[in-house]
Amino acid sequence: MVTGIGRTGVVGVIRGGKGGGGGRVIGLRADMDALPIQEASDIPYKSTVPGKMHACGHDGHTAMLLGAAHYLAETRNFAGTAVVIFQPAEEGGGGGRAMVQDGLMDRFRIEEVYGMHNYPGLPVGQFALRPGPLMAAADRITIEIEGRGGHAARPHVTIDTVLVGAQIINQIQSIVARNVDPLNAAVISICVFQAGSADNVIPQTALLRGTARSLTPDVRDLLEERLHEVVTGTARLYGATAKLTYRRDYPVTRNHQEQAAFAASVAAQVVGRGRVDDDVAPVMGAEDFSFMLEARPGAFIFVGNGDSAGLHHPAYDFNDEAIPIGASYWVKLVETALPG
Ligand code: NI
Repeated sequence: MVTGIGRTGVVGVIRGGKGGGGGRVIGLRADMDALPIQEASDIPYKSTVPGKMHACGHDGHTAMLLGAAHYLAETRNFAGTAVVIFQPAEEGGGGGRAMVQDGLMDRFRIEEVYGMHNYPGLPVGQFALRPGPLMAAADRITIEIEGRGGHAARPHVTIDTVLVGAQIINQIQSIVARNVDPLNAAVISICVFQAGSADNVIPQTALLRGTARSLTPDVRDLLEERLHEVVTGTARLYGATAKLTYRRDYPVTRNHQEQAAFAASVAAQVVGRGRVDDDVAPVMGAEDFSFMLEARPGAFIFVGNGDSAGLHHPAYDFNDEAIPIGASYWVKLVETALPG
């Protein structure tokens, strides 16, 4: 076991008992982090840390991979090496990127890498994935607006940054509606609007923040370009200035063809062919496993969490019935990819 990869990542190396050493190396990744949400459910195993809970089920992911690691270390019924990767900071911290930059792939000679996430709404005992883009690129938008503050009763001598911010938010909605091909997917959401601190003062500045999501490089480029044009142009229309910072964050989670087909066949071994959707629609959520898929071929798969509250919801509950299914998937994947 090696600790401290990508600051707090933990990596375990399990060598198979067949084939006399050597062989291929497969990486299996689970994320570990929680979210700043107060848990709403009154269940015996609810979070004991106020304001923090496992609202994305990463504790379940860790349990499934730990279970598989325990079994693989005990049985070693494969030839080659299984590298189990416990990754920190998936929720916006880019722990996947940090581990890759810290030499994860080269240091452990990982040739292929696989990831898994629970999926509320998909019945327990089912899997879903697709080749190609499975999850979106997620970029961060920050817009700093500067106008001219002043007395709320004398708006004509001010440049009202609240009005400019509202106009920018409205104008931005035209990008997805009128610039992106309707057959392509894109999302722009402005989620923060901060301005002012008194009801009789027009504020000098305003701040907008949000996210842009896309599934292809072309759409990603288009969103960034049009955001710059619309933001600066709209501010200029009102005599204000607006500075857009567009930060490319998580790339598209793009499954490799061959590995996605392999992952689907492994899942079918566990739950049966009819319970694996190998052409599920992509989702606009994002994943920093994408950095690992940019570094090595591999595949990301969804495992059913049943009829639970959605991810990141205060009432979310990881379904423990999925644990043996996910752990079995990991074990079968190693034993099938690395036969004796
Ligand atoms: Ni998650």
